[in-house]
Amino acid sequence: MKKSILYLICFMSITAIVVSACKMTYKPEQVQYAVHHDRADIQEGKRLTMMMCGVCHYDNETKQLTGVQMVDVPDVLGTIIASNITQHPTAGIGNYTDAELAYVVRTGVARDGRLIPFMQKPNIADEDLRNIIAFLRSDDPLVQPSEINPGNTKYSTVGKMAIGSSKPYSWTNGEIKKPNPSDKLAFGKYMVDNLACYDCHSKSFAKLNKVNMSPL
Ligand code: HEC
Ligand code: HEC
Repeated sequence: MKKSILYLICFMSITAIVVSACKMTYKPEQVQYAVHHDRADIQEGKRLTMMMCGVCHYDNETKQLTGVQMVDVPDVLGTIIASNITQHPTAGIGNYTDAELAYVVRTGVARDGRLIPFMQKPNIADEDLRNIIAFLRSDDPLVQPSEINPGNTKYSTVGKMAIGSSKPYSWTNGEIKKPNPSDKLAFGKYMVDNLACYDCHSKSFAKLNKVNMSPL
């Protein structure tokens, strides 16, 4: 056998081993999370959802949160498509419980175990998270059931390695309080954390620690 073919076989086997070692799914924990829908501020939930989730999940054509492809993601990672998060039971998130929604936002693990590292918000305050969940359940036209399937995420080998090197954040039991807006430094940090400024502006997305941001 020619040496070059041997090298090629070797390279392909190593790549296959590396990719199969990439952990892309995690078993979600069953956590308790209560959202009092009658007491939630739906308008505030809408404002936060459009600011924090809409950038990826809002489709300009359907004018709903039916999901779109993240076109800014380099092709080398594959095709990454933000899900339909309208209330449709199968095409959307109608079958998620409030706790499962809270869990995927904080830890990045979906109810089927998929790790979604680019939308993890481990520090989001309960007040904001509850308002977002209440909005997703509300009768607002943006989230009414739509059976549109925006397509399925398909990672390339490089993309699988990138996801494999990411980790879920741990679930925090107990209240995460929102800083008081009069404390400008703490509130500013809260906004920078949760508006994902570091996701794009830090030196390395892979090494980002969203629980305790510090210069890399
Ligand atoms: C940076 C882009 C981005 C942001 C911001 C974002 N998401 Fe996502 N989200 C995605 C992508 C991409 C997927 C699908 C991943 C996949 O296919 O594996 C997803 C999947 C989900 C899912 C899983 C749906 C399913 O099919 O099981 C939920 C729920 C969700 N997002 C809710 C939210 C909420 C709520 C917010 C705001 C707090 C948010 N997302 C912010 C990109 C984003
Ligand atoms: C999705 C990726 C992304 C996110 C999230 C993001 N930025 Fe940026 N930001 C960019 C890019 C790309 C540029 C450069 C744009 C250009 O050169 O046209 C930029 C430019 C800037 C600039 C101008 C810098 C200059 O040299 O003129 C500032 C300031 C800034 N961002 C602050 C922020 C803050 C604050 C946040 C969070 C609230 C944030 N960005 C979130 C991608 C992002």
